[in-house]
Amino acid sequence: MKEIENYSLLAHNTFAIDASCSRYVEYSSIEEARQVAMQLVEPFLIIGGGSNLLLTRDYEGTVVRSAIKGCEIVSQTDSEVLVRVGSGEEWDAIVAKFVEHGWHGAENLSLIPGDVGATAVQNIGAYGAEACDIIKEVEMVRISTGEVVTVAAADCHYGYRQSRFKKEWKNSFLITHVTYCLQRSFHPQLDYGNILSELQRRGIAHPTAAQLREVIISIRREKLPDPKVEGNAGSFFMNPVVSREKFESLLELYPQMPHYHVDEQHEKIPAGWMIDQCGWKGRTVGRAGVHVRQALVLVNRGGATGREIVDLCDAIRKDVFDRFGIDIQPEVNII
Ligand code: EPU
Repeated sequence: MKEIENYSLLAHNTFAIDASCSRYVEYSSIEEARQVAMQLVEPFLIIGGGSNLLLTRDYEGTVVRSAIKGCEIVSQTDSEVLVRVGSGEEWDAIVAKFVEHGWHGAENLSLIPGDVGATAVQNIGAYGAEACDIIKEVEMVRISTGEVVTVAAADCHYGYRQSRFKKEWKNSFLITHVTYCLQRSFHPQLDYGNILSELQRRGIAHPTAAQLREVIISIRREKLPDPKVEGNAGSFFMNPVVSREKFESLLELYPQMPHYHVDEQHEKIPAGWMIDQCGWKGRTVGRAGVHVRQALVLVNRGGATGREIVDLCDAIRKDVFDRFGIDIQPEVNII
């Protein structure tokens, strides 16, 4: 187990905010997770790769992170492979491995920053796919007792960027492993965003999994800033789901408004589009800014404090509310 007092979190948040914590603990096995769980006192903060985290102050408490590695087949049939992965593995390295082995279903989730544990908490999603489509079960340690618990994906109540880990299970468990169910046959999902046009541009009619992964990676690189160059946490806001009534009244005003069908009663509206309409795209306030190619992404232009990013977030929220009557919610965990 790794345990450090007064530790800088600069390398542990992709916003590149220079904040520290009183104590930092990393567990590398189930047994270590049990030890951490049984000693843990509040306040504590469980982090993954720090790619969905905005630190606005030094954290006066314990920051806990998984360093559990490993990726192994637990069972397989002619059609499916169950793969159990340590929660501290880097997600995209695991997607690369799945693609390499011909285990399908994760291609559209390529290049999403963060750790494996976070895929189960956050239900990461992109290009029409979500982690919950492939998660089979999650293994974890109950913080109050140190008991090892396995839950089926169906019990995690997954929704758009939501799970029980963000609600009633928040701060209750340390995730140790996630088991994914991958397919041996490849049924690519190509009908989202500009995947098809990008494939066409490359003259590919029937992509292999490796080609699809490459296309997803290039689309993401084109639209999203590289956190190594400009600190950011991907989408800063969630796309709001609104009632059909609200959606129809907005559509009358903005016939070009992009939208995604949720169900009979609801429609999802891209927050990035609304922020863009409010004129925020590419703007800079102090050392914080809005990415020039995707208005949903707030960036650290260099040396920004978490507070500066939150002030920018509040100003954007207010403008979007005044114009569209929708209070967009941050997706990023603000501490
Ligand atoms: N749009 C604009 N201006 C912008 C940004 C977007 O007009 O500045 C419009 C686009 O033209 C498009 C629509 O809004 O019509 C949606 O944009 P995009 O396809 O880029 O996707 P998004 O809804 O903004 C979501 C995810 C991303 C994911 C993409 C692709 C959320 C909060 N974000 O973004 O996830 O990569 O779809 O699937 O759901 C992340 O979570 O960090 C992330 C990057």
